[in-house]
Amino acid sequence: MTQNVRELTEEGVEARLAEVLGQERFAPPVTFADDAEITDPGIRARAAADPVGYWEGEARKLRWSTPWTTALNDAEAPFYRWFEGGRINISDNCLDRHVEAGLGDRVAYHWHGEEGEERDVTYAELLDRTARFAGALRALGVREGDVVGIYLPMIPEVVVAMLACTRIGAIHNVVFGGFSAGSVAERMEISDAKVLVTVDGSRRKGRTMPVKPEVDSHMGHLAGLEKVVVVRHAGIDVDMTDGRDVWFDEALDAADPVDPVPMDAEAPLFILYSSGSTAKPKGIQHTTGGYLTAITTTHRQAFDLKPDEDVFFCTADVGWVTGHSYIVYGPLANATTSVMYEGAPDYPHKGIWWELVERRKVTKLYTAPTAIRACMKWGVEHVAPHDLSSLKLLGSVGEPINPKAWLWYWHVIGGERCPVIDTWWQTETGAIVVTSLPGIDDAKPGSAGHPLPGFEVDVRDAETGDVVPEGEGLLAIPRPWPSMLRTLYGDPDRYVSTYWERFGKETYFVGDSARVDADGYVWVIGRVDDVINVSGHRLSTAEVESAIVAHPQVAEAAVVARADDLTGQAIIAYVTVQQGGDPCDALADEINGEIAERIGKLARPKRIVFTQDLPKTRSGKIMRRLLRDIAEDRDLGDTTTLADPGVVATLQEQYRAGA
Ligand code: WT7
Repeated sequence: MTQNVRELTEEGVEARLAEVLGQERFAPPVTFADDAEITDPGIRARAAADPVGYWEGEARKLRWSTPWTTALNDAEAPFYRWFEGGRINISDNCLDRHVEAGLGDRVAYHWHGEEGEERDVTYAELLDRTARFAGALRALGVREGDVVGIYLPMIPEVVVAMLACTRIGAIHNVVFGGFSAGSVAERMEISDAKVLVTVDGSRRKGRTMPVKPEVDSHMGHLAGLEKVVVVRHAGIDVDMTDGRDVWFDEALDAADPVDPVPMDAEAPLFILYSSGSTAKPKGIQHTTGGYLTAITTTHRQAFDLKPDEDVFFCTADVGWVTGHSYIVYGPLANATTSVMYEGAPDYPHKGIWWELVERRKVTKLYTAPTAIRACMKWGVEHVAPHDLSSLKLLGSVGEPINPKAWLWYWHVIGGERCPVIDTWWQTETGAIVVTSLPGIDDAKPGSAGHPLPGFEVDVRDAETGDVVPEGEGLLAIPRPWPSMLRTLYGDPDRYVSTYWERFGKETYFVGDSARVDADGYVWVIGRVDDVINVSGHRLSTAEVESAIVAHPQVAEAAVVARADDLTGQAIIAYVTVQQGGDPCDALADEINGEIAERIGKLARPKRIVFTQDLPKTRSGKIMRRLLRDIAEDRDLGDTTTLADPGVVATLQEQYRAGA
């Protein structure tokens, strides 16, 4: 089918979606299946027969300087070790190996700036800059095992900084640019970072925001932070502190390139802080050999990669695990060409992604349901002017994708030629765990499908812990996998208690509920802990609550999630004020300011509801279930266990009145 997207109309799309809504299965489009790389339906069964042997085979496709002696050591479970005794360097596998194979001129990133700037970075150039920045880091005193913080926008320097760390065995700790400098300071402090790589300022929708001055005002007290490296990007004046601050380009120019250092397979590669059930973020720690193995394999299989032909566009930010794994490490290890976009999906206009797809002839697109729903809302007029016929496959990640968004993506963006893969995974898993093999599996809109080869998942009864062959329960991973997190940085006890107590030290507790159907398809439902998923961004209720109560006029706060058409979930905050406090709009603004300062703007509630009281049990526990029911306008059911049942009735009336 040739696609003429110009004929797209809102009515035509609606009519087509009405036709296919309810269709349970979508076979791989014939044109795709005929040309697919992975066509062997026995691949899962063979991997399942000998998973460790299967992963060894995958690991051998990488360049190791010393082979491993033990593929999987489970003697100290749940502290599993993969490819023990092996030595490997990640930047060597992502760069040197390809340049030596003659791919130096291949573009690694087609970078596109917000204001229309274009810059191609080849593998040779990336290698040169990485080797020199690694030298610069060394000159600044960074040694193997030291932590380097990275707080940068979506610019090629972020990749250089990450790879330079891997080259010399430093551990990177990237913080998403949307988090506040306050939250960066917290993450630098708890990871004991020695160096921070940041930027003069960042650009967002035509505005320039100072970053370095923010860093200065929040980071000054950190005794362990010895150096701050500043990338020139937004062209704003910043103060440089003598002896502490250096310019990225000057450091790079002055440095001697360094060769990759062979690292222990189990050497820490990075820490990525993510939200958990408490206010303290979890430092999810990944290691070298196993992570690279699983990332390289899953990127190749899920996206049915053809490295010589594909142009891969992952719209995530490098500050999240999706960016780490599928903008940086997977694509580079597979010698892929990627598109990297600095800006927001609606700047300079709501069709910018489609303009980039057309301009760069993108073949594989990887984005999130929340973005797809936003595009649906903006309308097909922003898609129609662009030729999207280069696209071959579409991916989704971050939250369950509702069938309507799935079908819109498949029809409007993919022209019904492209399989849509729904990829389920987490920061903790490092790599995609559950998704369709696009040339083989039928897709069921709303289901992520089956685990990829070498992975296993099951669903367990919440009471007994028994495996549920068909039905609903808690998602679990009953077998270690190479890219699993190894620990929580500096907190091994929390690692064990969070993930390995519920089902024992052999079975990983995911924290999601899911249903498995008669065909073995996995349907992920959502989190079972106090984690909220706003636009695919993971936030903790406790973290937001503690930012709210930091305001001097606030007495108590309870934060819950409510379903939202656009962002998947939205944050609703119920707040009581101190004696003499004034629950007004100005206070709500100040609370929002507090949240933006401590966490980041992305954590601001959709609604702040001031209340006299919060519904509590007689023992004083806040009944969050009732607060969720109020936010989603459900019947409140049994409220007899409350200390004061009148509280919820008042609150419900108040909520409805303000809705
Ligand atoms: C949580 C992990 C994996 C990168 C982005 C988020 C939810 C993620 C899906 C999906 C249903 C999904 C889960 C998971 N989630 N992908 N395809 N279908 N739910 O990483 O911040 O670590 O969040 O996101 O609840 O546990 P993360």
